[in-house]
Amino acid sequence: MHASRENVARAFGGGKVILLGEHGVVYGRPGLAAGIRRGVTATAEVCEHALLQCEPWGVEVECSAERHGGARGEATLAHAFAAVLRDYPELPKVRVRVEIDLPGGAGLGCSAAIGVAVVGALDRFHGVVRSAQEIAEASMAWERVFHGNPSGIDNAVSAMGGVVVFRRDAGVRPVPLARRLWLVVGNSEEPSSTKDMVANVAARHAEDEVWSNRRFDAMAELCGRGERACVGGDLEALGQAMLENQELLRDFDLVTPRLDAMCLAALGARALGAKVTGAGGGGCMVALARDAAAAEGIRDAIAETSGSAFVAAVECSQREAET
Ligand code: PMV
Repeated sequence: MHASRENVARAFGGGKVILLGEHGVVYGRPGLAAGIRRGVTATAEVCEHALLQCEPWGVEVECSAERHGGARGEATLAHAFAAVLRDYPELPKVRVRVEIDLPGGAGLGCSAAIGVAVVGALDRFHGVVRSAQEIAEASMAWERVFHGNPSGIDNAVSAMGGVVVFRRDAGVRPVPLARRLWLVVGNSEEPSSTKDMVANVAARHAEDEVWSNRRFDAMAELCGRGERACVGGDLEALGQAMLENQELLRDFDLVTPRLDAMCLAALGARALGAKVTGAGGGGCMVALARDAAAAEGIRDAIAETSGSAFVAAVECSQREAET
């Protein structure tokens, strides 16, 4: 479908937290994830060359069909940019500026949010109209450059927002929330690579499939319980599922001492559940609060322990999120 082209085209890609089921999703189990309002804004404008600028990293890369120059990180960005540009008929004369308001490599889906924002802005620039799900799929070309074997959960939530159940074979399904979720995200500031963590889990899986499948099945069961809790507004049940999921992630050595301490601090401040979110081995944790006031107390308790923390509300409907 086509709409009129926009000379200055803007699009947003949201960050996300995985409430339940990370890593299991790579092996075909469901994952429950929530979009957050912090993310990435991309702006596409006419330019002599195909350029990608990333703020606040101060990075600019040029894309041509053949050449991906620059430092290693920059070469990867240029490669990812080239991968999404292939979707458009000719190498566009466009500069895409991305403004990133998410920590990278922290389990909040930063690279997927950039991919979704870039594809969204390029679509508008070209007058192409696609659904959120189609944008998520197109942005997988970007994500594969960074993550080798991504399940697609980050891109799906980034494009759609709200709470979703994601399955590799069935795609994404929105979950109607009975009540707003008050989440607190804590960043351990310990660097972690999703690609490496996925590879570590794959090595454990190759060693003993029965052992790991038992845990992935348990994650899937928790995901079902978590979805029902969201639909029924049962925050205690959702928190309990998060606590049980944390123990499964611990079995895979994905919970560092610092992340553990942050989760304990959140629970000490009366969080209903707390766990690592995303790939683990560093990066972020997420806690579930009963309400806004409790979320502030949990945020302060986490920040006193280690790293930094912020409150993220997940709205019942997209419309609510936009107001
Ligand atoms: O660390 P993040 O935000 O990229 O989350 C990755 C989620 C995993 O399940 C660990 C990997 C994947 O591709 O789903």
